Amino acid sequence: MGEIYTPLGPETRVWRGAELRGYNRVNISIIGTGYVGLVTGTCFADLGNNVICADSDKEKLQTLKKGKIPIYEPGLEEMFKRNEQKGRLKFTSSIKDAVLKSDIIFICVGTPSKENGEANLLYIEKVSKDIAQNIKSYKLIVEKSTVPVETGERVKEVIRSFKKNKANFDVASNPEFLREGSAVEDFMHPDRIVIGVESKRAKDLLAELYRPLKAPLVVTDIKGAEIIKHASNSFLATKISFINAISNICEKVGADVTKIARGIGLDKRISTSFLNAGIGYGGSCFPKDVNAFIHIADKLGYDFGLLREVKKINEHQKDFLINKIEHMLWNLPDKTIAVLGLSFKPDTDDLRSAPALDIIERLKNAGCIIKVYDPKAMPKAKKILKGVKFCKNAYEAASKSDCLVILTDWNEFKELDFKKIKKKLHQPVIIDGRNIYDPKKMKKMGFRYTGIGRAI
Ligand code: UDX
Repeated sequence: MGEIYTPLGPETRVWRGAELRGYNRVNISIIGTGYVGLVTGTCFADLGNNVICADSDKEKLQTLKKGKIPIYEPGLEEMFKRNEQKGRLKFTSSIKDAVLKSDIIFICVGTPSKENGEANLLYIEKVSKDIAQNIKSYKLIVEKSTVPVETGERVKEVIRSFKKNKANFDVASNPEFLREGSAVEDFMHPDRIVIGVESKRAKDLLAELYRPLKAPLVVTDIKGAEIIKHASNSFLATKISFINAISNICEKVGADVTKIARGIGLDKRISTSFLNAGIGYGGSCFPKDVNAFIHIADKLGYDFGLLREVKKINEHQKDFLINKIEHMLWNLPDKTIAVLGLSFKPDTDDLRSAPALDIIERLKNAGCIIKVYDPKAMPKAKKILKGVKFCKNAYEAASKSDCLVILTDWNEFKELDFKKIKKKLHQPVIIDGRNIYDPKKMKKMGFRYTGIGRAI
């Protein structure tokens, strides 16, 4: 009898024992317990596999052993605790231990950007060496981290060179497509699973591992899977920059970009998702991955001008917002700005490449006094944002401020008491960087309102 998987939402499929009948649970190790590693490890454990997570950060491991997860991700902590208690999720600081006790090893370490935008693959190389030195029997080593095309080849070479015996191994690529804020849901109900493999053994192992998810499987070679990951994120970033470019045209003629997005997005070939104009994309993936792909293309002798433009438009959206604030307030020096939202998107406390950080810095440099509020990201923000006033809610931020600026589309901000906000504000000005309000309603309530790509 298989296990019952408790659904996370009304749309999700309920797992019945029968669906898991004959599922071959495996011993898995996850190297690197960052965002991707933690979600991947926890979800694999929830499918009934034995998972051992390795990380060199002993402090982090201590926190995890206490059942606490260092990131905010809906549904993850509960799932994490459940699996830890059942003994399916373990932690170690020793890669040796993890390798010896597993059949499939997922590399989930970070690939940060170098100054020139290229991915830094030092951690991948180090982990590959560590794995190689501890292989004693067949292992399937899977790249989960986003890596430049041909990294799989490098990993193979390193393992071949540092392996101490004749044990067989395979390398595979299995990119993640997890969105922060819905990562558990994305893992459990993926649109597709991509596996880049070079042997039937590797393909069969991964296909079986993911079988319970019942998602379309795209099987390719390792290079293909590596490119799919870069191309996916770059395409999504392109969609966002495209609609942001359209929003600039809308502003000039007084059209509403949200209507345009719906008008084009209902064409199924285009789709309405990732067509929201705003202050540009941020986060730990899009900015880094677009840069890395531009760099990879350069190295391969192709000038990816389209992606350079995508990046340029994304940067421009921040200038655009600052110009808007200036236009609404006339002069920036000494103006008090209430900023609502710091995280790069809602439902996460992640501030990596959050447009809000850049925008706040620039407003500060222009002489503005900044008050901020975010439902989840305040603890992290307090560590990195200096010279701003942290407020306990949106109303405190609005109090005696010259305008309200929305930088993250948290649901909480959609339901504010605008009578109260208006009373608190020094001037009834709202600059909506995420188009979460209806311009007509705002005007009717007596606000001077401006969104992105919408007639004032
Ligand atoms: C992304 C990819 O979606 C995921 O598949 C990949 O594996 C990791 O990177 P994530 O970084 O969590 O996920 O965020 P995502 O939801 O994709 O949003 C990225 C950024 O784009 C956010 O800053 C968001 O505000 C912005 N965005 C998104 C828009 O400006 N407009 C949109 O229409 C959609």
